Amino acid sequence: MSLHDPKRSDVNVAIVGVGNCASSLVQGIAHYSNGGANEQIGLSHWDLGGYRPKDLKVVAAWDIDRRKVGRDVAEAIFAEPNCTKTFCDHVPATGTRVRMGKLLDGIADHMANFAPERTFMLADGEREPSHDDVVEVLRDTRTDVMINYLPVGSQKAAEFYAECALDARVALVNCIPVFIASDEDWAKKFEQAGVPVIGDDIKSQLGATIVHRVLTDLFKKRGVKLDRTYQLNTGGNTDFLNMLNRDRLSSKKVSKTEAVQSQLDVPLDPDNIHIGPSDFVPFQKDNKVCFIRMEGTGFGGVPLNLELRLSVEDSPNSAGVVTDAIRCCKLARDAGMAGPVTPVCAWTMKHPPEQMLDPDAKRAVEEFVHAQYPLDAAAVQQDAHAIGKAQRSEITHSPVGER
Ligand SMILES: NC(=O)c1ccc[n+]([C@@H]2O[C@H](COP(=O)([O-])OP(=O)(O)OC[C@H]3O[C@@H](n4cnc5c(N)ncnc54)[C@H](O)[C@@H]3O)[C@@H](O)[C@H]2O)c1
Repeated sequence: MSLHDPKRSDVNVAIVGVGNCASSLVQGIAHYSNGGANEQIGLSHWDLGGYRPKDLKVVAAWDIDRRKVGRDVAEAIFAEPNCTKTFCDHVPATGTRVRMGKLLDGIADHMANFAPERTFMLADGEREPSHDDVVEVLRDTRTDVMINYLPVGSQKAAEFYAECALDARVALVNCIPVFIASDEDWAKKFEQAGVPVIGDDIKSQLGATIVHRVLTDLFKKRGVKLDRTYQLNTGGNTDFLNMLNRDRLSSKKVSKTEAVQSQLDVPLDPDNIHIGPSDFVPFQKDNKVCFIRMEGTGFGGVPLNLELRLSVEDSPNSAGVVTDAIRCCKLARDAGMAGPVTPVCAWTMKHPPEQMLDPDAKRAVEEFVHAQYPLDAAAVQQDAHAIGKAQRSEITHSPVGER
């Protein structure tokens, strides 16, 4: 078997919400398609179960912003209010135009009080699709995996698109903290429809959640009792602007808090843990800054504390994990699995149906992938090396910089 196994096909992806995260994902597909095997930096899997990033094809997309609807996805990802870094300035046209989406609760009222370059602008006058319209597009485009990138708090909109995915028998990767994979009733619906689902709320590559979890586990393993902790986050993108509405924020707080509490044998009293998005700082744009404080008791009952500041570009930080989640979802679909793909949910998501310790989740994911595609690891390395050598001369590195 080789990396060019002709049995492997494209992974047809439909995007719901062409915001900053979608921008990083689509840029990433172009970036890694161009570089081949020696452009693996930043990916945890270049080849995952026989699928490479370049096998991901965006075949459908929905948004409700007038600056995005009607444009090719490759252009729409650079339209305002998107503000994430351009790390790939040669995204080829996808041939897929962004369709008008179903608004429902996608836009929070307070978003109207901000300048156009910071906020969503409804494409009024465009006809919103019905359930059947979306299902028809998913079928016509032979979509394998739908990815949900709606704003936090879009409960009705997320459920609308999830129902469409179910009826079209399309797998779902739910990157937002509306609970679908981790909700018993929804999980059952996916099982009954014979469709895999991965969710909920994407866990970034090296973001606040994974760092906080690993440190929590470290305290535990070193015999230090964690007494109190907070995690404060600031950012200047539309995700942070949207989360100024505290009603929309509640599921995000649950998701982020449980992600840390689950690493403890005995969860902290709610008064001793505070985790959540904290404020919108416009000039930060897609830069997210996280402040973690952990207070503990060590040997002899002597107190200690830890302060940490983490600064990341928010959207590319999650796009690599999404690239893995999509490919795992396709593997599950190929294998005829249905319902939540438990280990993949635990590794890639903050609020999975079943929390696991990260090393256990990572091991379980590798086993899952290997079970679907038992390619010898040495052969992968050899093949990747050969491809890298052949392509090295044609590689163009894209500059990383601000737009
Ligand atoms: N690292 C990360 O960036 C990260 C991590 C975890 C979760 N998430 C979640 O992923 C989601 C997307 O994040 P983002 O930064 O791309 O947000 P964003 O605000 O940049 O994008 C949201 C997009 O959805 C569109 N939209 C709004 N209502 C819609 C509707 N009804 N139908 C179709 N499109 C609609 C908006 O116009 C916008 O383009 C958020 O919920 C965020 O919390 C992101």
